[in-house]
Amino acid sequence: MQIHTTIESLRKARRVAGKVAFVPTMGNLHAGHITLMREAGARADAVIASIFVNRLQFGPGEDFNKYPRTLEADCEKLEAAGVAHLFAPDERLMYPEPQLYHVDPAPAQIGILEGEFRPGHFRGVATVVLKLLNIVQPDLALFGKKDYQQLMVLSNMVRQLALPVEVLPGETVRAESGLALSSRNGYLSTQELAEAPRLYRELVQICEAVRAGDHDFLKLEMAAMAHLRTHGWKPDYITVRRRIDLQPPSHERDPLVVLAAARLGQTRLIDNIEI
Ligand code: PAF
Repeated sequence: MQIHTTIESLRKARRVAGKVAFVPTMGNLHAGHITLMREAGARADAVIASIFVNRLQFGPGEDFNKYPRTLEADCEKLEAAGVAHLFAPDERLMYPEPQLYHVDPAPAQIGILEGEFRPGHFRGVATVVLKLLNIVQPDLALFGKKDYQQLMVLSNMVRQLALPVEVLPGETVRAESGLALSSRNGYLSTQELAEAPRLYRELVQICEAVRAGDHDFLKLEMAAMAHLRTHGWKPDYITVRRRIDLQPPSHERDPLVVLAAARLGQTRLIDNIEI
């Protein structure tokens, strides 16, 4: 695997790489990322991954400083997954001057769910992903469904700005307990790690109830949040939404997804399942 720390070197390699699938990450790679890399590899001549912890998408008081940076171990995993190129820029390369131009997704898309609790987050994500896409110029870009709203925002950005790239979603990878794999799971204590799969179990319960015909979403959501609270969680939201735009369902046949965000100790976890 070649590691590129300049745009020139990455672009030179990209020009002769054929059909390229790109997987942007913030590093600290787990099996979820690696599954994305392998899916990318099955669809292209070469996979380019990136690792960049993007300051722009972290709010004040969030975990930008403590976000795990594990480049050496990440490189070994990428190499083993057959990734051809890693773009690993530093902050001076990505933001050599204050970033004055941003992608501002519509308030309807980012004033809800994660965007409500993390103001500015999706502006930072969309801005860095547009910049990375411009640098890498891939044919395909893969994003995990674990960050469901991020996937929606980025798919819409690509479509609305006619970016010449196809966005492919990757399924969430889970531990045997059901816990969705996430770099932030590393912040959990042993005790919290044992408790964490409850978030997924609550989502499964809602999903099963809805599939069985219970459409009193509010009742189901309230019950799940109350249940989490009794086990020490601080839920931000658990909500059934339509998949297409993450707004409240308006029609019986809307394809649905149930999404959750909740704090366990100091760690904020998110998860979702398509119903
Ligand atoms: O999902 C992530 O890891 C990040 O939000 C992304 C897409 C790499 C942008 O920094």
